[in-house]
Amino acid sequence: MKISVVGCGYLGAVHAAAMAELGHTVVGVDVDERKIEALSEGRAPFFEPGLPEILTSASASGRLRFSTDMAEVADATVHFIAVGTPQKPGSHSADMTYVDAAVDALLPHLKAGDLVVGKSTVPVGTAARLAATVKAAVPGADLAWNPEFLREGFAVKDTISPDRLVYGISDDADLAATAKAALDEVYSKALGEGTPLVVTDYATAELVKISANAFLATKISFINAISEIAEVAGANVSELADAIGYDARIGRRFLNAGIGFGGGCLPKDIRAFGARAEELGRGEALTFLKEVDAINLRRRQRVVDMVVEMLGGQAFDKKVAVLGLAFKPDSDDIRDSPALDIAVQLNGLGAVVSATDPHAISNAKAKHPQLHFVESVGEAVAHAEIVLLLTEWSEYRALTPADIESAVAGKRIIDGRNVLSSPEWRSAGWDYRAMGRP
Ligand code: UDX
Repeated sequence: MKISVVGCGYLGAVHAAAMAELGHTVVGVDVDERKIEALSEGRAPFFEPGLPEILTSASASGRLRFSTDMAEVADATVHFIAVGTPQKPGSHSADMTYVDAAVDALLPHLKAGDLVVGKSTVPVGTAARLAATVKAAVPGADLAWNPEFLREGFAVKDTISPDRLVYGISDDADLAATAKAALDEVYSKALGEGTPLVVTDYATAELVKISANAFLATKISFINAISEIAEVAGANVSELADAIGYDARIGRRFLNAGIGFGGGCLPKDIRAFGARAEELGRGEALTFLKEVDAINLRRRQRVVDMVVEMLGGQAFDKKVAVLGLAFKPDSDDIRDSPALDIAVQLNGLGAVVSATDPHAISNAKAKHPQLHFVESVGEAVAHAEIVLLLTEWSEYRALTPADIESAVAGKRIIDGRNVLSSPEWRSAGWDYRAMGRP
């Protein structure tokens, strides 16, 4: 099939390369010339395991190209919209500027029989609105909503072998059948034996995505709330999570207490969902998401307070080593990163923060040049009064007291992700603190 992907950011670049990998002929379009230049040369503009490999193999096959010229989409019949829906400045709502601009730019190049497929996470009601726009501008063209559930760090795998697919399609039976057939063909090689497929209406497809993210955020904040109680009660939240996770109705995944969630999806999605519910006159139904957000932000404050307390009441002029800046491991994404937020807050208190990360330094430096960034753990911990492990990269998980204790000025460590062994660090004489573990 001939496919276009409009928007070559995180979602779009992976989607375009994965579709080519699945055998389609794909053009990825973006207004950002530097991004298109990098992708055209087979370079991923961000860190994502597996993406450089499929970019190279898809480009070599001749099935994948990138362009800034929207006219290049003309021979494609399925057009994915994969632009961002960030939080609107000064508001909780999603900023729909990019989605609307992408559809407007696409319209002059559409023809009868084409299918526009939205992948972006949008406020419920968007697909119906855009379907009307597409149909009015191009008779015979149609729109579907096909939310994306990929996780950063696993984006290639999640796209090539998704754990489920959701199609939100027209309520006109003929259009619906054509749209479903086109999407089935797009995903024929991605749909493994028994991969669940939910074919539904626009509103349900939009809500599936945002409710999945709201549920995941709620699960994390639930365990973080319990971790606040575990901390004062002297209980161990990790063992508690193991124990409740054995109940198949609960499950152990997404019950890791720590400094909370960040990234380009969960924080802005729960806020946008609440804002949309208010617009629909049902704000009360989602008030709990405000609490989910508040619990999450409290985790960052807790680490800052703990640092101050462990340093004897003030952080001013004290050297603090920060290990990890990305919002999670295997990503260079620093959007709404709890780790970076903590580093910035401590810097604001006058601490001398020395921060490192295997892949996120350049992104962090561009946003917060006031911080001091170093390339290695050794440089970060040199003369540090306290060490903070804030993103659980595998190399930080493997740290032992012997690796760093000769370099530090004070044997104090906060394990913000509950990944180190408390007995190991305590027996080596460290003041080891974790999140909700004694
Ligand atoms: C998320 C959803 O998982 C994905 O399905 C959706 O398409 C986009 O949003 P992503 O943002 O890539 O994906 O990251 P995810 O793995 O969900 O982690 C989100 C945040 O939650 C990270 O900051 C992570 O550190 C944190 N987290 C996750 C926890 O604090 N505890 C956990 O148990 C799990």
